Formats: sequence, structure tokens, C-alpha cells
Amino acid sequence: MSSHVISTPRTTGEPGERILRYTLTERVNHWFAALTYIYCLITGLAFWSPYMYWLAAIVGGGPTARFWHPWLGVAFTVSVFWMHQMWDRDMQITDADRRWAKVIKLYIENDDQNLPPEGRFNYGQKLFFWLMFYGIILLLISGIGLWFVEDIPWSLRWLRYLSVTVHVIAAMATIAGFIIHIYMGTAMVRGGFTSIIRGEVTADWARTHHRLWHEEVMRRQPPPGAVGSRK
Ligand code: HEM
Repeated sequence: MSSHVISTPRTTGEPGERILRYTLTERVNHWFAALTYIYCLITGLAFWSPYMYWLAAIVGGGPTARFWHPWLGVAFTVSVFWMHQMWDRDMQITDADRRWAKVIKLYIENDDQNLPPEGRFNYGQKLFFWLMFYGIILLLISGIGLWFVEDIPWSLRWLRYLSVTVHVIAAMATIAGFIIHIYMGTAMVRGGFTSIIRGEVTADWARTHHRLWHEEVMRRQPPPGAVGSRK
């Protein structure tokens, strides 16, 4: 794990103290994922329905969109795999998540104070991550079938039908997750959006939303004078 306190070598325990939540690499990768995903979303919707074909016009027209959609899909896959490389450990489902999941209603009602403590990511964030991770694997495999569709012999045409079906179902599942992700990240949880832009959160925010993670950061860099801290 790479999170630590920003400006001082040790935490002070002050509520307003800033803690590093996302490193620069994590943020750059996140926004690369966001841009490539949004491009695939716009062009994919344009291909899916004539009613949404106008979307292709804003990204250079149909043929350009058809050329770039698979390539940016590959770029998105690379960034999700990179994300997996960085966050795999933090995204494992734990007992704390199972306790949290039982009272998810409190989360929906924005009653975070009464939720059981969570680690760096909460159960909902982890579910979204795994949805995107397995979703992109399905999108990639089925996408290859659609990319080189003319190379699939007629006798194996069931592969074409399977590719279309899997691609559409996986795309819809990720779109549903994506909409919830944007809503939660921008409108519901104040301070989350700043963290994925600037990298930092306040100690207060960390305690409120991710108490176990905050405790872990404190353990690694305890306040000066606390038991076990370096003098
Ligand atoms: C415009 C699009 C997007 C916006 C506005 C957005 C917003 C955010 C925000 C605010 C956070 C920080 C949440 C927190 O720590 O409390 C975050 C984290 C994250 N984002 Fe995004 N995001 C976008 C696109 C994507 C895409 C396409 C992916 C696909 C993989 C993605 C995957 C993640 C993951 C896995 C995290 C960490 C866990 C989580 O908060 O769900 N994001 N995003």
C-alpha cells in the first residue's frame, strides 16, 4: 500500500491534517481509465443504436469511431490491469466488508457515522472494482471476436452471436456500475472527488469514511509522543 501522510513525516492526529489517499501514479492511471472508458462508452452507444449514432459525430464520425473504439478498449484494459496491480490487495473482500454489507442501508441513507468501520475501500467500492475488472476481461475477449469478425468462418458463426451478446451484456453491467460510481464519487461522498484529483483527504474524512484505513495510516506513522512512536 502506498498511502501516507503528505507534508510531515509523522501524523499529528489533527482532524484537519491531510493524508495522502491516492498517489500521482494512481490518479494518472484513474483518469486515463476514465477517459478511455468514456470514449468507448460514447462510440459503443453510437454503434449500438441508430438513435445514438449522432454521438459518433462528436468524436470524428462513424469510420473514425470504428477504428479507435477497439484500440481505446485495449488502452482501457491496460489501465484496469494496472489498477489491479496497484490495488489488488486493498480490494480483497474482508470480514469488515461482510459486516458493512449487512447494514448497507445506512450507507445508502448517507448515515456513515453508524456504519461499521471500513478499510481503504468500502464494500461498494470493491464490488465496483471487481465488476470493472471481470467486465473488461469479458469485453476484451468478446471485443476481439467483433474486431476481427470477418475472419470468423461461417461454420463458427455462433462465435459471432456469442461475441455480440457477451459484449452488450458486459457493457451494460459496467455502464450501470459506472453511473453509480460517478454519483457516489461526486454527489454523495463529499471530499472523494478532491481526493482523486489532488490525492489528499483530511484525517477527519479518513476517520469518517475509512476508519480502519485511517488507523492503519496512524499505526504506520503514529503521532509524535504516542506509545511506540519514534522520538
Ligand atoms: C468521469 C468518470 C469518473 C469519475 C468522476 C470518477 C470518480 C472517482 C472518485 C471521486 C474516486 C474516489 C472515491 C473515494 O476514494 O472515495 C474514484 C475512485 C475510483 N475509481 Fe473512478 N471515476 C471515474 C471513472 C472511473 C472509471 C472508468 C473506472 C474504471 C475502472 C474507475 C474506477 C475507480 C476505482 C476502482 C476507484 C477506487 C475505488 C472507488 O472509489 O470506487 N473510475 N473515482
